[in-house]
Amino acid sequence: MSHLIWGGADCVDLARAYGTPLYVVDETIIRARCREIQNTFLSRWSATSVCYAGKAFLTLAMARIMEQEGLGLDVVSGGELLVAQKAGFPMSRVELHGNAKSERELRAALSLGVGRVIVDGIMELEVLSALADELEKDVNIMIRVSPGVNPHTHSHLVTGHLGSKFGLPLEGELLRNAVCLAVTSKHVHLKGFHFHVGSQIFEPDFHVESVRRVVALVDKLQKEYGIATDELNFGGGFGVGQMPDGAPGIKGEPHVPVALFTDAMMSALTQECEARALSRPAVVIEPGRWIIGTAGITLYNVETIKRLDGVTYIGVDGGMPDNPRPSLYSAPYRAVLANKTDDAQLENVSIAGKCCETGDILIQSELLPSSVKRGDILAVFNTGAYNFSMATNYNRLGRPALVFVKDGASYIAAYRRTEEDLLQGEVVPEILR
Ligand SMILES: Cc1ncc(COP(=O)(O)O)c(C=O)c1O
Repeated sequence: MSHLIWGGADCVDLARAYGTPLYVVDETIIRARCREIQNTFLSRWSATSVCYAGKAFLTLAMARIMEQEGLGLDVVSGGELLVAQKAGFPMSRVELHGNAKSERELRAALSLGVGRVIVDGIMELEVLSALADELEKDVNIMIRVSPGVNPHTHSHLVTGHLGSKFGLPLEGELLRNAVCLAVTSKHVHLKGFHFHVGSQIFEPDFHVESVRRVVALVDKLQKEYGIATDELNFGGGFGVGQMPDGAPGIKGEPHVPVALFTDAMMSALTQECEARALSRPAVVIEPGRWIIGTAGITLYNVETIKRLDGVTYIGVDGGMPDNPRPSLYSAPYRAVLANKTDDAQLENVSIAGKCCETGDILIQSELLPSSVKRGDILAVFNTGAYNFSMATNYNRLGRPALVFVKDGASYIAAYRRTEEDLLQGEVVPEILR
């Protein structure tokens, strides 16, 4: 039987060596994505930069790779900021996001000297401005706006629509007041505006429409108030399919080039700026999933097979705690048996997680070898993004280990968190002894 090879490593050997469930990330795919960004975006368009959206997947190892590839880092909490700090990531290349930043997080951003704070509202701006005065620290900010577009994706993944909890609407006094406050604040320096329309988007139209709307704002600020905009940040959201392209023996889906989005946005920006006689602001993009999504797979042990009338359940040793996306967003995934990739006798099955939830189904419908048995290794593809970073401890299942693979070698990036580890910090209160 032939085995799934990932990053040059035999997945069955990986499962044996590190145990299951196991997150496996191919470093070569991540670096290839970064090179594509370099060749088709950064080199093609002047005054551009990229901040990897760490919420997709952030570990010390990943932060090091992003640093080596010359990218910036978008963090969204004190915890992600700490990872950047511990990984030695240059703070000037870090931007802090968040729609409900705490004073502690804002203080940390100021003290560490992050490159940008992406301000999400007036109240945050007031606090930031007061803290910057108190600490006598200058801070560069961008204001997040909601461009009012509604891309075709899962409703929980749309972020730039009117009424979103993120950002300020382009029209209206909230944004005007925020700009006024920013330009009159002593230590806060308004560099420009940020939008992020949503995630898992496969056509550039909504990004382009947002660019056009934001340039109208830039134009208005310039002409009516003499306020220049140096930078625009177009967020991320570029989609990836369910099957990796180019995995040996696997029929993948074509990779969506980043230039599909960046060329469309940059052309629209150039056009709009020329038409309005504006100089083109510098541009930042923030891809997350597009960089890491297809690099990751998750290996599980098959524990049970239950053949009912009309459905066969393959029960595995993980589920919604290591991948909450199917139950949160009905996100589709694909899988193979890593120890039987050439078995052509297939049957339709559902892959069930082991949690005490009817909704813990990792994959509703997949064709797997009908010879499937307890102890086989299931590999679920494209779990690089929003799996490790969204993992929970539901049913106290522990957390899978994380290994990186490259040219056949593997190295551990996060040790398994055992059931014992999960007890750390818990006590039996005196009163209950
Ligand atoms: C502000 C911001 N930027 C970038 C991203 C990355 O999105 P994606 O992983 O879809 O590229 C997100 C995702 O939620 C986001 O909220």
